[in-house]
Amino acid sequence: MDTLPTPSPAATAPGAAGTPAPGAGLDAVVEERLARLDLATKVRLLQGETNWRVFGAPDAGLRQVVTSDGPVGVRGEAWDERDVGLNLPSPTALAATWDEDLVERLGLLLAGESRRKGVDVLLAPTVNLHRSPLGGRHFECFSEDPLLTARVGSAFVRGVQAGGVAATVKHYVANDSETDRMTVDVRMDERTLREVYLAPFEHIVAAARPWAVMASYNKVDGVTLTENDLLAEPLKGEWGFDGLVMSDWTAVRSTAESARAALDLAMPGPTGPWGDALLAAVQAGEVPQDAIDEKVRRILVLAARVGALDGVAPAVPAADPAGLPLPDAPAVRAAARAAAAQGMVLVRNEGLLPLDGPALRRVAVIGPNAAQARTQGGGSATVYPPHTVAPLDGLRAALDDGVEVVHAPGVHTRDVVAYAEPPLVRDPVSGEPGVRVTYVGADGADLASEHRRFGRIGWGDPGLEHDAATARIEALVTPAVAGAWQVAAGGLGRHRLEVDGTIAVETEVVVPDGGEPDFVHFVTPPQAATTVALEAGREVRVVLHVDPLRMNGALCVAELCVEPPVPDPVAGLEEAAALAASSDVAVVVVGTTAAVESEGFDRTSLDLPGAQDELVRRVVAANPRTVVVVNAGAPVLLPWRDEVPAVLLGWFGGQEFGDALADVLLGRHEPGGRLPTTWPVAQEDCPVLSTTPVDGVLEYAEGLLVGYRAWSHQGSDGGPAPAYWFGHGLGYTTWEHTGVQVVAPDADGPSTYLRARVQVRNSGARAGRTVVQAYLSRPDSAVARPPLWLAGFAAVEAGPGEQVEVDVVLAPRAFEHWDAAAHRWVVEPGDFVLGVGASSADRPLTATVPVTG
Ligand code: BGC
Repeated sequence: MDTLPTPSPAATAPGAAGTPAPGAGLDAVVEERLARLDLATKVRLLQGETNWRVFGAPDAGLRQVVTSDGPVGVRGEAWDERDVGLNLPSPTALAATWDEDLVERLGLLLAGESRRKGVDVLLAPTVNLHRSPLGGRHFECFSEDPLLTARVGSAFVRGVQAGGVAATVKHYVANDSETDRMTVDVRMDERTLREVYLAPFEHIVAAARPWAVMASYNKVDGVTLTENDLLAEPLKGEWGFDGLVMSDWTAVRSTAESARAALDLAMPGPTGPWGDALLAAVQAGEVPQDAIDEKVRRILVLAARVGALDGVAPAVPAADPAGLPLPDAPAVRAAARAAAAQGMVLVRNEGLLPLDGPALRRVAVIGPNAAQARTQGGGSATVYPPHTVAPLDGLRAALDDGVEVVHAPGVHTRDVVAYAEPPLVRDPVSGEPGVRVTYVGADGADLASEHRRFGRIGWGDPGLEHDAATARIEALVTPAVAGAWQVAAGGLGRHRLEVDGTIAVETEVVVPDGGEPDFVHFVTPPQAATTVALEAGREVRVVLHVDPLRMNGALCVAELCVEPPVPDPVAGLEEAAALAASSDVAVVVVGTTAAVESEGFDRTSLDLPGAQDELVRRVVAANPRTVVVVNAGAPVLLPWRDEVPAVLLGWFGGQEFGDALADVLLGRHEPGGRLPTTWPVAQEDCPVLSTTPVDGVLEYAEGLLVGYRAWSHQGSDGGPAPAYWFGHGLGYTTWEHTGVQVVAPDADGPSTYLRARVQVRNSGARAGRTVVQAYLSRPDSAVARPPLWLAGFAAVEAGPGEQVEVDVVLAPRAFEHWDAAAHRWVVEPGDFVLGVGASSADRPLTATVPVTG
């Protein structure tokens, strides 16, 4: 990452990322601009202008402010594959690095991407917690632990804002699962809310001063978040958050109630419950004018920070978009590759890894995710990367020409038909790989036609947004094999799909029963599928006539989907086993699908989809030298994990996944990751599982006992242990934790914090890095507590045989608990016990920390 910009110390010092801060001369400017606006203009500013834009007000020197989704990249305003963007590893992978410097540098890269695409506000990071492994957006959140989430999230915000782009910390708060996310009423006790779910937001507000926060869809204690008092207190009051609170998309359900709350901006627009209705409510005296002024002030401050307010210098001088690296620039690719490797967690290694590259002659790369990996989760976070490197590509490139790399998918796991992509389809007009899209007016006349790479047109695409009433997506397909080809029409609306003039599908695709009403169908469109018998080598023309549904003034996504026949399951397994048997080593890449890990729904099962468990067992029986790589953003069950010599968790590894994987498998990069979340043996073992509300209420009855805290508690009662604990991960060397001393504030320097001074020795034969983790516990406490909690961590590097020392900061909050009766943080005086080691279950060093209060 040497050639990439690194955040400057000035920009990353606490508070400095927030400059210009309200108060520092900005207040007067904001008041002066506010005074130029009449009430109607002020109110207009408070509802989005488009799906992604905030209105400008030329009279006040305010230009439009543009938002776009993260967190793995920046999609930009169009949902269009031609608008490519960097695809970084999933947030679970970033958290697995436990590397704040790295995450900060990646945040800065995303700021560059934002600037390149004209985006001022990045809708990331997602700092909800991994409460249950079933949570559908688990891959998009960092961890089950509030402190790890807080520290990684702060680093992300610092990096993004050091590049002059606003980060949006989301979704505030308790949006930890997806089932009924629009309406679910989350209930928990006040202490749990403070110590677990608000904690990351509080820490990030203090440590990184984010410029925006997003209010979530759900309710807490019966009140939807866009109307909830939690926006005022603790967020804006007690914590002093001086940025803007925007709603999640379509999360505002009322006019006056939400406007009286501390919500500043209702997204998206142009229609919504604010706008004219809000103006009328203000005129009727239902919403005070002061409340409107306060919201507009925060919009002006945000605009000033990102450089959208004329005459005010932005927080960070704007980079010239032309000078920013493209997502396939070598330095960007190297950064994404190193990040993916740094996040990979080696959970088991009986000596097979790293592979001895020069000794290999034939390598079998097997599995449904080997030739086409998932590099990101689904949903609103989706970006179109410039390319993706699959594990098969990565290994082929990394191994010498003399090594034969063979591949078989083994099993078929997808249960929806993928949208048409090259090399399967050709544009019937230009002949190029891809499809032809024609936009059709209400009178049936063709308005415009264009070549597209993928058979997908989406919300925000210019042709569709304007005059078009319907559209056609057309492609030529030359089947490589004969059989029952899969075709489907995707997206809400009326569709007719023809194959060589014969109707294959004619239907209205509607929201599935129990499905989320709107937004998610733009990103995960439901589909109507069938099969058609095709001959090998005989070209057919496939046409999808699209009459899409319109929602909130925009048109739904439409997809022409085409895939080859589903392979024979028995032959698939046999082929994979035969390739493994005839190879020096087998690398099996298993994983989830878009139908399993995406936004808008939770998982129902932690099993790997399809017959992947059977595949692993067949391959390892055929060749004991088998490495299993797990390509999933969240925990899955690995029932064969003790029967294979090596298991590596690769997460959704981003666009450079395959190259990073090859680096790790061949020992060119250590697997740097440590688990940000505990992985279970069996679904029924999970101490917290259900994400299904009962009568509309999701009770967080487990209170503080989330993640490893809960696993540890259940273990002390004789309950089941997990497969892999929070914090666990192996490198290619071994470590001994040899000593710990507790160092008082100022004992030998300017630190105002208690520190755990830890000595560790690299006891192996290679240089490496390990994450020293410090946990606290409090035996004999008068207060009910989890058995342990993460109090701090620090990474160290050392050469073979080398002993190194590192200070782990133990912030005061680690010793405090929330007193729900007094509504404040307090310390229970007495002895805390510090446990230091390599994971939440491996804490060989202990020390007593007496605390007086
Ligand atoms: C998601 C947000 C996202 C927004 C805009 C919502 O459905 O929950 O995370 O930022 O859409 O795409």
